[in-house]
Amino acid sequence: MDKFDIKKNYLNKINKFQKHNKLYYEDSSPKISDKEFDDLKNEIIRLEKKYNFLRSEISPTTSIGFKPSKNFLKSKHRVQMLSLSNAFDENDLLNFEKKIHNYLNEKINFEYSVEPKIDGISASLTYKNGKLVSGTSRGDGNIGELITENLKTILDIPHEIKKKDFPKDIDIRGEVFINKNDFVKLKNNFANPRNAASGTLRQKDPNETKKIPLKFVAYTFGHLEKNNFKNQSDFLYSLKNWGFVTSDHNKVFKNIGELVKFHKKFENERFNFEYDVDGLVYKVNDLNLQKRLGFTSNAPRWAIAHKFSAESAYSEILNIDIQVGRTGALTPVAKVKPVNIGGVIVSNTSLHNEDEIKRKDIRIGDTVKVERAGDVIPHVIEVDIKKRKKNSKKFVFPKKCPSCGSNTEKEYNSATKKIDAVRRCTNEGYDCEKIAIEKIKHFISKEALNIDGLGKKVVEKFWDLKIIRVPQDIFKINYEKISNLDGWGKQSSSNLQYSIEKSKEISLDRFIYSLGIRHIGNENAKLIAEDSKSILNFLDLINKKKFQELLNIDGIGETQVNSIKKFFKNKLNYEIVLELNKILSIQSKKINKNGKLKNKTFMFTGKLSNISRAEAKSLVEKNSGSVLSTVSKKLNYLVIGEKPTNKKIEQAKKIGVEIISQSALNNLLN
Ligand code: IVH
Repeated sequence: MDKFDIKKNYLNKINKFQKHNKLYYEDSSPKISDKEFDDLKNEIIRLEKKYNFLRSEISPTTSIGFKPSKNFLKSKHRVQMLSLSNAFDENDLLNFEKKIHNYLNEKINFEYSVEPKIDGISASLTYKNGKLVSGTSRGDGNIGELITENLKTILDIPHEIKKKDFPKDIDIRGEVFINKNDFVKLKNNFANPRNAASGTLRQKDPNETKKIPLKFVAYTFGHLEKNNFKNQSDFLYSLKNWGFVTSDHNKVFKNIGELVKFHKKFENERFNFEYDVDGLVYKVNDLNLQKRLGFTSNAPRWAIAHKFSAESAYSEILNIDIQVGRTGALTPVAKVKPVNIGGVIVSNTSLHNEDEIKRKDIRIGDTVKVERAGDVIPHVIEVDIKKRKKNSKKFVFPKKCPSCGSNTEKEYNSATKKIDAVRRCTNEGYDCEKIAIEKIKHFISKEALNIDGLGKKVVEKFWDLKIIRVPQDIFKINYEKISNLDGWGKQSSSNLQYSIEKSKEISLDRFIYSLGIRHIGNENAKLIAEDSKSILNFLDLINKKKFQELLNIDGIGETQVNSIKKFFKNKLNYEIVLELNKILSIQSKKINKNGKLKNKTFMFTGKLSNISRAEAKSLVEKNSGSVLSTVSKKLNYLVIGEKPTNKKIEQAKKIGVEIISQSALNNLLN
């Protein structure tokens, strides 16, 4: 092929890629499998690497990709639309219940509301004075797309409700889906019923949505002006009474034994259903308990999805890649011959860690059983030994980091008293290229700096061009230079500048999370930020190496503290934080300042009854009080539970701090 043909072939591929990119991201109706899409992209990358004269502004290596749906106005949910954690077996369920008991600090008996998990997409409907005023898609959980007119075409969704007991202002939430037999007619356009529902619902023109028989099953509420319901099951009953469709299979059960029995029975029956069901949802039935339990950053503590068992297929391992993650973990990934598992083409499967490979004696060339369940990454279940080739060799896991060549190690885990199964690169910080890139990707990610237009691909590109090597480089970008890069222009460069400027104002918890310290996810970052209150206090803690003080925070243990220590032992990590503090405006957490416990400080000692420390702390803070970790003159009340620490009581007495019981604290609140 001469240069002209190579270029022509390349541009054809780019155009094809653009078309499918748009179909995937903007129209939610991919027409090729994920694998074909990836192959196309990889082929373009391969060509660009091979022939350096190939360039295009819309190449996947330069363009950032479509933003989902410019078609609709955005709308902020009054109450977040979160997802659910998954359980796959009885053990996961026992763990789930244990966490509930721990959080409540009492072994309370409660019922479960059990509902089929229909595999569609969720939507939220706002009714004011009985009229449907707006409808939104889930979006990213905080902000959804306003798709009112499209939702109104669904026959199951009432436009007006005249029942006397229907709340004046309520968001009704449920699942939009399509029956399997209706999907058959659309099979050529969508990979599965879920995609079909999502694509049809988000058509620009509601008349297009109307052509497809979408359905809606209601199952929960978001905002609710006055909640008089005692149980989730009561709410489901009312939903039906008000004219919504609810599942005929909703049940209430008393314990995990009953849940498991029902799951087993239901799992076999699900194939007779008219629609796809991918599991059961279990919710704590008592709404008051739900309120106490609240949410972690992405899922409620009071609900879990119990998935049905996965689908599987056999394939051959072509190669084993070792990926290096942000925390240095070496993760083996098996590249397998592409295989269709339950409608999805799988070509990468997780092998978890070194021990897993050893335990299952997984080798390159082996035929393996691959399983796929819901959204989780497919994984290798077992090797078909009979099919093993004679000349096959045991896989040797690398002992040096494949990215930087440093030594790797398996750590001793003091909590489990075992050696970790995961091997890690010992390089802390930015000296290991793969770790550094992953750290920067984490820094700009949604839950951290959330910089629009600076996606993972752009980070990789800017890394290659040496534009970004450490986080602060992001704020020193020469936009003039960027606008001259292939695939960039004045507009995209100034958009990037805008989002980078915008990201400079950041809350302390997000900032701490953005640093990517191992074991400090957004929950722990929140705890530390709440304790530190301001970036100055946080820096003071680092400067004076007062890391041990963090142990006073309920929820922070040795593991987290050691990890923070190790992180700041690295000089570059420390300098990055100082540098970022100069550039960013790091905001202290805003709290309700006029609650009942305004200007009052508390400290807890001993076991509280019916409530955990974490819950008590959040209760105090919700009412504008604060919780201290040491006894000092600043402390107003020392709250004593069962078996308190005598030393704290003595100290408190000495300096005249008021000592109160838990019920006295309750009185202050009521
Ligand atoms: S409750 C915070 N109930 O599953 C409560 N969700 O992974 C979350 N879903 O986004 C929603 N059936 O799309 C709930 N009976 C049910 C459900 C259900 C299906 C979907 C929903 C949600 C996803 C969570």
